[in-house]
Amino acid sequence: MDIVPLGPGFAAELRGVTLADIAADDTVYAAARAAFEDHSVLVLRGQEATDESQLAFSRRFGPPEVTKVGSLGTGTHFITLTNIGPDGTVVPPDHRYALRNKANQLWHTDSSFKPVPALTSVLSARLVPDHGGETEYVSTRLAFERLDPAMQKKAENLFVWHDYAHSRSQIAPGLASPEERAALPPQCWRMVWKNPVNGRGAIYLASHAYAVEGMEVAAGKKLIDELMAAATAPGTSYVHKWKSGDVVMWDNRATMHRGRPWPAPEPRLMVRTTISATEADGLASMRPPSRQAAE
Ligand SMILES: [Fe+2]
Repeated sequence: MDIVPLGPGFAAELRGVTLADIAADDTVYAAARAAFEDHSVLVLRGQEATDESQLAFSRRFGPPEVTKVGSLGTGTHFITLTNIGPDGTVVPPDHRYALRNKANQLWHTDSSFKPVPALTSVLSARLVPDHGGETEYVSTRLAFERLDPAMQKKAENLFVWHDYAHSRSQIAPGLASPEERAALPPQCWRMVWKNPVNGRGAIYLASHAYAVEGMEVAAGKKLIDELMAAATAPGTSYVHKWKSGDVVMWDNRATMHRGRPWPAPEPRLMVRTTISATEADGLASMRPPSRQAAE
């Protein structure tokens, strides 16, 4: 297995290895896992992933999420991200699927709004448009390390509220349905996620973040906006241009990403599996002290 760096200080391509190799072999998995901890975004090309091979690969990294209510694939381990409607044609721009794609174009990390946040997301390209539709990544680990020491210290001791309905409301009022709101109450997490393998901290924020615990609303919002802007500064991203057969996995603890638009009439179909974070991934220290004491 060769590791070829791709981005500005993070992201790498794994060559000479397949999803099946990593799923089947402990030694290959250990090497891929070490690369994941180091590089935060891993790209595998030419994989021709099926749902089964993608899930077997993903399970290596931890327990798979069950897809939430309101997403395509609810109740399974798969989320289908597409603009192809149930009748097989591309949906109009005001369709719920298209609005969801638009919400994915806000900088975020996956599942920070869930009771158990995600370690990693694995996305495979099944049908890609000829133009656009890239996924853009930034390292929130490098962003944390760019902060001055006083700001790092401050951030490490702050807790942030995340809400799915908040990010959706930025696209269209009511985009988060009453069922989604009921299933996904706001969650509070430490602003910095420390990786237990290498000890490096990363800013843990997203479009879902709306308030800082113990701070006045406007001041908290301002701090979130400033840190989001610093984390996504021009020149700091890796842009993945998808080819059919690509699989990309990323560390939701140490990156943010956003989808890029593509011409509305072009069909696109991507399948995501998502792996929940466990205590071994540093989850315990992310909980507010009140919840740590209660559990
Ligand atoms: Fe995402």
